[in-house]
Amino acid sequence: MIMTNSSISHPSGTHHKVSGFVIIVSAIAAIGGLLFGYDTGVISGAILFIKEQFQLDSTMQELTVSVVLVGALVGAALGGILGDRFGRRHMIILSAIIFLLGALLTAFTPNLSILICGRIIVGVGIGIASFISPMYISEVAPKSIRGTLVFLNQLALTLGILLAYLVDYLFTTVPGGWRWMLGLAVIPALVLGLGMLKMPNSPRWLIMKNRGGQARTVLTKIRGTAAVDAELAEIHDSLATEGSSSWSDLFKPALRLPLIIGIGLAIFQQVTGINTVIYYAPTILEFSGIKSVAVSILGTTGIGVINVIFTIVGAWLVDRAGRRPLLLISLSGMAISLGLLALAFQLPQLASSLGMAVVVILMLYVASFAIGLGPVFWLLISEIYPLNVRSKAMSVATVANWGANLIVAVTFLSIVQVLGRPGAFWLYAALTVASVLFTYKLVPETKNRTLEQIQEAMRHHQVR
Ligand code: BGC
Repeated sequence: MIMTNSSISHPSGTHHKVSGFVIIVSAIAAIGGLLFGYDTGVISGAILFIKEQFQLDSTMQELTVSVVLVGALVGAALGGILGDRFGRRHMIILSAIIFLLGALLTAFTPNLSILICGRIIVGVGIGIASFISPMYISEVAPKSIRGTLVFLNQLALTLGILLAYLVDYLFTTVPGGWRWMLGLAVIPALVLGLGMLKMPNSPRWLIMKNRGGQARTVLTKIRGTAAVDAELAEIHDSLATEGSSSWSDLFKPALRLPLIIGIGLAIFQQVTGINTVIYYAPTILEFSGIKSVAVSILGTTGIGVINVIFTIVGAWLVDRAGRRPLLLISLSGMAISLGLLALAFQLPQLASSLGMAVVVILMLYVASFAIGLGPVFWLLISEIYPLNVRSKAMSVATVANWGANLIVAVTFLSIVQVLGRPGAFWLYAALTVASVLFTYKLVPETKNRTLEQIQEAMRHHQVR
């Protein structure tokens, strides 16, 4: 296996040795993110054909689209229950098997009921992978590039969404093309499952399971050096102060603030409206008067590309600027664009072409989300919890995230009906302003510290 060491120059001026192997390990785990993105994005195109095949009315269409979120809620809870017992690596392999099963079931379904069951199963895979992949990456990463490596997962996610749009586009003219759209997920699922079989267990999980000898072997391999004593000792020490790992530990006073931060960010990541854009971009473009399907597809693809590009920008910045500044800039950009969007719908006479204005504003909004709130939420919840309850606490935040996602997805069109188009976006803008205040007041800075140093600092409230 490749064990090359490259010297990474860090903005603090120090040089850290980073092994090539840890990048490979993270990239394989990030395929979980790719499947998360692909399987949430692919339905937008597939549903157009599924509705004709099975003669679906609008309620049944909505159900077919949103059951995946229900599955994700279940998967996120399941991941928390099983995560500690079986370990991060096995959980990722389990998610790959579930993705595979779901893809086959939906691609070969003889009827709507099995299609819906298949989508729920896919959702369970998404729910597990959505937080276990970032957790695994965070636990293998060296502190100097942990942010960038966890961003890799979100980068794969955004690429997955884009890939889904592309596959949907390519198969539109193929008879039964929707089966291909859903079924092609077997390829990344196989790569993820087989790839993870060759990857090591998380050294931190091994220590938690009293398998210190194996943890040393793994850490030596992923750090590319035998000088791992200090890191091992730090993990052991941290675990010794943390104690047991039961669900009731989540209610201890020391965990109150980290849980509020995780659940709060989870909800804010969704109620600030990202998935109204990711799932409903063509509808929003139609609101602005764009009637041409070609322009709508182009606009949606443009939004997908921006999402990828700005995730890369964020990945470059996160270990340099830090998590807090990135989040605050991201949320401010989102608040401004949502305000502009509301204004554009309220006073369409201000823009010579409302359609163009809306496309540009949506791009600004997605760019702002991509450099911060999108990936930083997943990163922070992989950093702020003690090892003994990390899996359970991340699962709780992830359940909150998928729950909020489901609520936004099923209420968006009704909110537009009740509050009107400007009113809906004013509401999301107000929620974004609230999340700026929340972040400013509560969210800690975690860059360039080991996970154990973060725990130590959180215990002593020294995290700004
Ligand atoms: C969010 C998803 C969203 C995606 C868009 C993720 O961080 O959790 O809900 O669809 O970003 O890129």
